Formats: sequence, structure tokens, C-alpha cells
Amino acid sequence: MTQTSEDSVLLRLEHLGIVPVIVLDDVVHATDLADALVSGGLPVAEVTLRTDAGLQTIRRLCDRGDMLVGAGTVLNAEQVDLVVEAGVSFVVSPGLSIEVVERCLHHNVAVIPGIATATELQAAVAAGLSHVKFFPAGKLGGRSMIETLAEPFPDVRFMPSGGVNAANVSDFLASPSIFAAGGSWMATKALIASQQFDEIARLAREASSLVRVASR
Ligand code: 3PG
Repeated sequence: MTQTSEDSVLLRLEHLGIVPVIVLDDVVHATDLADALVSGGLPVAEVTLRTDAGLQTIRRLCDRGDMLVGAGTVLNAEQVDLVVEAGVSFVVSPGLSIEVVERCLHHNVAVIPGIATATELQAAVAAGLSHVKFFPAGKLGGRSMIETLAEPFPDVRFMPSGGVNAANVSDFLASPSIFAAGGSWMATKALIASQQFDEIARLAREASSLVRVASR
């Protein structure tokens, strides 16, 4: 089977292991934040469209060329078009929207929709996907729930997000069913608002070292 650009993005995400989930209120912090993540060894971000600054931040990070940039909280096909035009490599949504999935497939962009139940997982597989987000992972039973969902779907790989942090990420990453984990702990809204970019770089470095020690 030939490897598509979507496959290579998913492999890069697996290699990076941790995907910082970014909620930025003001695009003015985008460059400092990106510099902190890159210097911390995590040159990747899922920038959410939850704020007005989201799309502009995505454009700015994509223009740098030194990060793997995705869009998060993508809820409809129109938003897919906007973020693909901005240059993202992957699209994430909190739940499963077939409209979003189909538009991403149309653009040949990797898509990682959220699932929370076996029914949603089955629908994602029927839509042709092999990689999904498990959200909100902490509240839904964490790694053991993922491993239970993986039993009938052994070819699916999961990205837990929501409640993942420095204390539990190694355990998630040790599961063969998990290709990466998402989270905001290394770049919280509070750290960004108070412009603690050195601390963000430190937490990113700590996170990337946890990926290396996880038995993957
Ligand atoms: C997400 O969209 O994946 C979550 O908002 C990230 O969750 P966290 O803030 O608990 O890390």
C-alpha cells in the first residue's frame, strides 16, 4: 500500500508523542508560544478554533515552517476549508462529524475526530478512519477504557485528550493502542496570559522527555 501524506503526518504525530492543545486568546503571543514549544523539543500544536485568535494563530504557526500544525475544535466543513487554506497538516474535532471527516478526506488532510463510545468508534471506522481522538479521556475511564474499546477494533489507534497531564501521560503512551496524547498542561491559558514562556519551554521539555522514556 502506498503511503499518503496523511499517513506521514500521523507517523510524525506518533513520533512526537505529545500534542500540545493550544487555546490562545491573543495572537500577539503566538510567536513566543511557538518558540517555547520548539525550544522545548515539542514542535507541534493543535491550535483550537475556540477563540477568535485561533485561525490567525494557525496561519502564523504554519508560516514558520518549523512546526507540525493542526487545527482543533473544527466543527464543520467550512472551518475545514479555512484551516486547510491556512496550511494545517491535521484536523482534530471534539466529536465525530462525518461532514468534517469527508471534507478532510477530500483535501487529503489527516483528520482525528473525537469519539467517546463504541458506536462513535464504529462510525469512524465505517468512514474509513484508523486514528481517533478519545475525548475527554480522563473523565471517560482513561487508558483502560481505550484498551477495552480497542478489543473489537484492534487496528484503530487512539489519541487521548482531556485530563492528560505530566503525571499520567507516560502510562497512556505505554499502551500499544495509543499513538499520541493531547493536552494543554504545558501551555495552559494561565501560563500564556502571564507570558511565562520559559516555564512553557521547561514543561514542553519535560513532556518530550516523558515520550522518550515511555516504553513505546
Ligand atoms: C482538548 O480539546 O483536547 C482538551 O481541551 C485538552 O484537554 P486538557 O485541557 O484537559 O489538556
